[in-house]
Amino acid sequence: MATLAKKPKSTRASSLNEEDWWSISFEIDHLFNGAPVAEEELFAGRATEVRRILEVVLERSKHVILYGERGVGKTSIANVFWRRYNARLQTIVAARVQADPADTFSSLWNKAFDELIAVAKSMGRYDLVPVTNEFSIETPDQVRRELQKCKPNAIPIIIFDEFDKLRDALSRELFANLIKYLYDYSLNTTIILVGVAEDVSSLIADHQSLDRALAQIKLNRMSDTELNDVIDTRLGKTRLELDGDARWTVITLSRGLPYFTQMLTKYAAKAAIDERSLIIKPSHVRAAMDRFIVEADQSFQDAYSLATDSPQKGHLFKEVLLACALAQTDQSGFFTPTNVIEPLSGIVGQRKQHAHFSRHLSEFISEDRGKVLMRRGHERNYRFRFRDPMMQPYVIIKGINENMIGRDAQEVIFQREQPFLPNVT
Ligand SMILES: Nc1ncnc2c1ncn2[C@@H]1O[C@H](COP(=O)(O)OP(=O)(O)OP(=O)(O)O)[C@@H](O)[C@H]1O
Ligand SMILES: [Mg+2]
Repeated sequence: MATLAKKPKSTRASSLNEEDWWSISFEIDHLFNGAPVAEEELFAGRATEVRRILEVVLERSKHVILYGERGVGKTSIANVFWRRYNARLQTIVAARVQADPADTFSSLWNKAFDELIAVAKSMGRYDLVPVTNEFSIETPDQVRRELQKCKPNAIPIIIFDEFDKLRDALSRELFANLIKYLYDYSLNTTIILVGVAEDVSSLIADHQSLDRALAQIKLNRMSDTELNDVIDTRLGKTRLELDGDARWTVITLSRGLPYFTQMLTKYAAKAAIDERSLIIKPSHVRAAMDRFIVEADQSFQDAYSLATDSPQKGHLFKEVLLACALAQTDQSGFFTPTNVIEPLSGIVGQRKQHAHFSRHLSEFISEDRGKVLMRRGHERNYRFRFRDPMMQPYVIIKGINENMIGRDAQEVIFQREQPFLPNVT
């Protein structure tokens, strides 16, 4: 893709012609496309995690397991982190393959060697990683022998994305064995396993014995500052600006998930463009929320109905689910029942206690309500989370669109805490 130059901000809307507006709209589509990030200049935040992964890569013979909730940006960081390595002494050759449920140890490694060779050839540096894909790889020893052919001035990185999809238990065990071998032989190749998981034990067998060989890096949801960065790195390439209040609403609604930041900014930008305004205002974010609900995947709509429909009068399922979505969480998206009290009281306009909604929480984790929430911990110490984190912003936007949150409650929920968001006028 062509490099995206920074555009001058000083343009007045009245000086733009139809073609200019069309081209801004095109830039927005291109920049806010919701796909995993593949280019460094569009990659925001994550400085600490990038540094940690690079440190492991440079520490000979160590490997990485990168895990976290769905949609937090695992593929994006795996695509980009190694581009930040700019020393010239050694050359990184990074290959990424995606696991699927039909894969085995053998099929994954055959894909990995195909990819490593293709990447090295496209760089004109096959000499660095002269491995072969002419026979089928079956065992950890074969992998080790091939990787030993890599030259000392190469840093081969092999990323197995969506590793959680690998179902075959034997294959997972073979991966664990392989990592031990590579560590014991001190190879300069780094293996990175990436997957959706709450903890490492669900991704790899026998992880305790891999402690020294495998750095466990958890990717949390993004901070508000990082989400702000997601907006800036992209919007900064267009003539549009996002008003501080509008920006804060987008960030609050995103719940740490950058996909929503991108989608809401995109739809809001489109609404601003339709009005021929170079400033994206709160009214445009409102329009974006409407569009978001209309265009949301049918699966969100079905899951929402299953979780909240009830023939009983005054059942409060929608209100409690909304309060759960608005509840304060830890970095992994977990909240306690106590965290639900405040938002629920705000929504229904009346002080509520645990007893008013504990039945709802129990139902939300049941099959009957599509397991919209999951529960961890012990009685008296339960923590809950949206099973699919992507559902959380959907529930909030739906609640706002259905006027379930009164003006006063909205003021509290969307109270601006960020001094870094000036209003643009
Ligand atoms: N650092 C980032 N800067 C900007 N946008 C990001 C960043 N990380 C992720 N995103 C955006 O967030 C969305 C999800 O990213 P990505 O696909 O990398 O997440 P994931 O954790 O791999 O998701 P999944 O669990 O579904 O595989 C995409 O729209 C992507 O563009
Ligand atoms: Mg991914």
